[in-house]
Amino acid sequence: MNNSPWLAVENLGLTEGATRILDDVSLQLDAQRTVVLGPNGAGKSTLLRLIHGLLHPSAGTLRWPQPLSQAMVFQRPVMLRTTALANVIYGLKLKGYAADECEQRALQSLARVDLEALARRPARLLSGGEQQRVALARAWALEPELLILDEPTASLDPGSSREVERIIKAIAASGARILMTTHNLAQARRIAEEIVFIDRGRIVEQTPVEEFFTQPRSEAAQRFLQEETP
Ligand SMILES: Nc1ncnc2c1ncn2[C@@H]1O[C@H](COP(=O)(O)OP(=O)(O)OP(=O)(O)O)[C@@H](O)[C@H]1O
Ligand SMILES: [Mg+2]
Repeated sequence: MNNSPWLAVENLGLTEGATRILDDVSLQLDAQRTVVLGPNGAGKSTLLRLIHGLLHPSAGTLRWPQPLSQAMVFQRPVMLRTTALANVIYGLKLKGYAADECEQRALQSLARVDLEALARRPARLLSGGEQQRVALARAWALEPELLILDEPTASLDPGSSREVERIIKAIAASGARILMTTHNLAQARRIAEEIVFIDRGRIVEQTPVEEFFTQPRSEAAQRFLQEETP
């Protein structure tokens, strides 16, 4: 990627009643893999939902130099009451893929997350880690130019978490931009090129990953790293 921003967030704000959830957020995203860090309630999920178009801002704009196709994965996978395969096919149909193309594409996508053997199992009976892999297969099948993930491993044990991490890296390697949040700092360090740190609804710093972890610029990030490091 050529370091011109793929998204410019300009003076973005979101207010609910008297509460300012995001306040005058301006940000240029140009890295291929960006991880948003910050304490609970900082506004990370809200920012990601605004970027994905699930929320409308009260102020400001998102400027996309070129429109990007997007998919989003959440902490708790939302599975339809049907097979893993049908869950992936459903996503493809919604995006307008031809019916005869959907099944083959869905099976390929499940194979890429090592789930072809479970393709015809009811999705809701799969383990949490397997369901998250189905959610990733559903997203990856769409070949999004931008994949947004909100704490995709927060409900998983360490083994499943590493497996999901491996898949996120493979999706990045296939060319998608990654924008995600996590409370797992080691994971953030392994995945990110750049860290966006937010606190109380405001952007505090945007820093290359190694610099963020070794020499964070802001006091808020220094405090956060101290508190979060065991
Ligand atoms: N619809 C809403 N109405 C009022 N307050 C809201 C609404 N949605 C979120 N908030 C508040 O906005 C703040 C930011 O929430 P958000 O979920 O974006 O935080 P977060 O950084 O993702 O936190 P966490 O690390 O716990 O996931 C929180 O204080 C939350 O309670
Ligand atoms: Mg959140």
